[in-house]
Amino acid sequence: MREVQVATISENMHSPFGETAVAELTRDQAKAELAWLAGALVAANTAYHRDDAPDISDAEYDALKRRNAAIEAEFPDLKRSDSPSDVVGGAIAEGFGKIKHVVRMLSLGNAFDDDDVRDFDQRIRKYLGLVDDDALTYTAEPKIDGLSLSLRYEGGRLVQAATRGDGETGENVTANARTIADIPQKLKGAPDVLEVRGEVYMSHADFAALNARQEEKGGKTFANPRNAAAGSLRQLDATITKSRPLRFFAYAWGDVSAPLAETQWDAIARLAAMGFSTNPLTQKCDGPTQLIAHYKRIEAQRADLGYDIDGVVYKVDDLALQRRLGFRSTTPRWAVAHKFPAELAWTVLEAIDIQVGRTGALSPVARLRPVTVGGVVVSNATLHNEDYIAGRDGNGAPIRGGRDIRVGDHVQVYRAGDVIPKINDVDLARRPKDAKPYVLPTRCPECGSDAIREEGDAIRRCTGGIICPAQAVEKLKHFVSRAAFDIEGLGAKQVEQFYSDGWITTPADIFTLRARFDEGLQQLKNREGWGDKSATNLFDAIDEKRQISLARLIFSLGIRHVGENSAALLANHYTSWANFEDAMTTATIGDGPAWDALTSIDGVGTVMATSVVTTMQQEAERASIDLLVAQLDVQDAELRATDSPVAGKTVVFTGTLERMTRAEAKARAESLGAKVSGSVSAKTDILVAGPGAGSKAKKATELGIETMDEDTWLALIGDA
Ligand code: IVH
Repeated sequence: MREVQVATISENMHSPFGETAVAELTRDQAKAELAWLAGALVAANTAYHRDDAPDISDAEYDALKRRNAAIEAEFPDLKRSDSPSDVVGGAIAEGFGKIKHVVRMLSLGNAFDDDDVRDFDQRIRKYLGLVDDDALTYTAEPKIDGLSLSLRYEGGRLVQAATRGDGETGENVTANARTIADIPQKLKGAPDVLEVRGEVYMSHADFAALNARQEEKGGKTFANPRNAAAGSLRQLDATITKSRPLRFFAYAWGDVSAPLAETQWDAIARLAAMGFSTNPLTQKCDGPTQLIAHYKRIEAQRADLGYDIDGVVYKVDDLALQRRLGFRSTTPRWAVAHKFPAELAWTVLEAIDIQVGRTGALSPVARLRPVTVGGVVVSNATLHNEDYIAGRDGNGAPIRGGRDIRVGDHVQVYRAGDVIPKINDVDLARRPKDAKPYVLPTRCPECGSDAIREEGDAIRRCTGGIICPAQAVEKLKHFVSRAAFDIEGLGAKQVEQFYSDGWITTPADIFTLRARFDEGLQQLKNREGWGDKSATNLFDAIDEKRQISLARLIFSLGIRHVGENSAALLANHYTSWANFEDAMTTATIGDGPAWDALTSIDGVGTVMATSVVTTMQQEAERASIDLLVAQLDVQDAELRATDSPVAGKTVVFTGTLERMTRAEAKARAESLGAKVSGSVSAKTDILVAGPGAGSKAKKATELGIETMDEDTWLALIGDA
């Protein structure tokens, strides 16, 4: 059983400090527990592999591995030379080769209710420039709750099978896949190269029988069919996989040497004709109403299907449209997963704590009497903001029928997907008599500064800025996080320690540590666990990160509304720190060419743009950023597709485009490495002019800029 947010491990594992949250461990405790975990995991691996007599469940094994990784993340310098983390994937994955996917294996965006489904349809129509009367067909099929697998066939023969892994690189499980009856070894009528993708799963009946067998022989049992399928597929010894009743549904494809069909429906039919199992509940639907009706039909049959599904997947049927719609960073625009509602459970709200984030947001967190929801112990839930607690949405309209949430209440919690648990409802009948309406503090609990709520903002924020320790520390934690500077040996725990010692107050301080500590190194050395070597290692690791990509740098600044994706968009657009800085410092919010250029980036809206410009022009922030950048060697962003004929070119679209919408034209051009600008200047390389082009076309001619019509542009980029 997994504990959300606070990593503790199962009671019966007798880890010395297993019940203590990782963040609360002292260094001595952490060291002792890492030693215990290394021993326990070696013993578990031996029992499993050598003796074929596992003595702990998969879930317990995973919990131990996670606990070990969590402690190592908090105390990187305590990581042991025999760390279980260095045994790739532990008992199961050790020894699997890696396979880089020719075509990435993506995940799906989610829809949780009917409105989300209609929004999905509307987004697609808008992107493609379709009006409501235009036909748009989708397919709808069950979302199988298993694990995805990519099967590569060459000359009709199965040559390779890979798990999804991180989407870019998966594990080579070819020998294991060959043992699955649903997976054909040879295909008839397949293109020369064909990667078939689908889900490996286990039926309820097979799962129950497997667990019964395991129990009988004293082997490990599995928590659910998905875990059983994953555990069975990822076996180093393929004979074990063979003894496990795995199944496979095909629902997609990756690399292909020739198109399978013109529609999703026909492509799946071809896969079925080649011998794959495809899901019989797949149906064509003509729009959101039919999609939702099919969702309801599938939901009604869910309990009788005999295998787990967790939603319904909708895909645009026309593959030419799928290609036009393309992908966001990790999900296709042309598909969505409509998830079944999450499991619910009632428990007691014991307290409301306030956490202060790096942007000063005061976030109320519900501390719950622990309760199991869908196999996971939940003890915390997000309460969003004061309106949410009061039973109002952002516009003042009632939510939960206007029922507020009070400490002592019985509340209903749920988990949607893998996200942080939320509160669904409150039971007024069981409200304690003395329960009082909750009032969010108007002073920051961390620094005592006023916490204000600006008009139009749902969040109350601490005004302390950098003087607020919570904000400063959270900013530093963000700065060293995995997607930001990711400095080995400098995790959240160390940052907190260094901050409280006054060694680091802003990111720039990290890079002057070595110099400042040359004489004061003693101080660091005297600290328990830090010797000359570990201090030098840390400084070396810091130096390694002086060279940093522009996208990482922008992300690491922790600017409100700028996540990893947005940082990449900004980096790709401005390509160098100098360009970015120049544009942000000269931009006027809401006006002028620098603002227009910023907001014309696909994916950058006015809220984010305002936040970036404001931050980059704020004196204290700028001083801190300047000091930081002076310490770094910022790498220019590489243009995304350097081999395309328009890579690095600045393109302007004007007039009416007839074969694509503006948004689509822009996204496509940017995906080929071009920069799309809203206005013509001497820097413009290409003007794509449709009918009705006016002043921009004139200006381009005056400046001698290459001008072409839409068809010529499409031919140039190979989309004709
Ligand atoms: S389509 C480009 N169809 O769900 C999108 N995925 O949450 C390719 N899944 O990683 C995926 N049933 O493992 C698709 N009928 C279905 C599916 C399905 C299950 C899984 C798949 C994917 C995950 C995304």
